[in-house]
Amino acid sequence: MALYSEKVMDHFRNPRNLGVIEDADGIGEVGNAKCGDIMKMYLKIKGGVIEDVKFETFGCASAIASSSMATELIKGQPVSEAMQLTNKAVAEALDGLPDYKLHCSVLAEEAIKSAIEDYESKKKQNI
Ligand code: FES
Repeated sequence: MALYSEKVMDHFRNPRNLGVIEDADGIGEVGNAKCGDIMKMYLKIKGGVIEDVKFETFGCASAIASSSMATELIKGQPVSEAMQLTNKAVAEALDGLPDYKLHCSVLAEEAIKSAIEDYESKKKQNI
């Protein structure tokens, strides 16, 4: 069996939602100290729904594919749904990741949660 599924290779070669949102409502940046990979998520939120999401990932193929898939999974979803996204769901949507690459999908979950937390805290400051 190939190391990576076709879906992982597809999202690695043609990442969806790659880039920056200049006027993002929430930004999350996380990293993994062991491998040194870094992931940044930008969210545009309107009426409690994720209207747009973009990412920048400085990391391995699995990290790039995980970020790309995670953005697809949360785009158009309510913030409360996006908050529930697990790394397991990201890995499953990619038709699996090798065990030792599962931490790459954890980065995607953490980056989204961190961006949502940033959005929530900015919202509180504006009240
Ligand atoms: Fe660390 Fe992929 S090897 S995120």
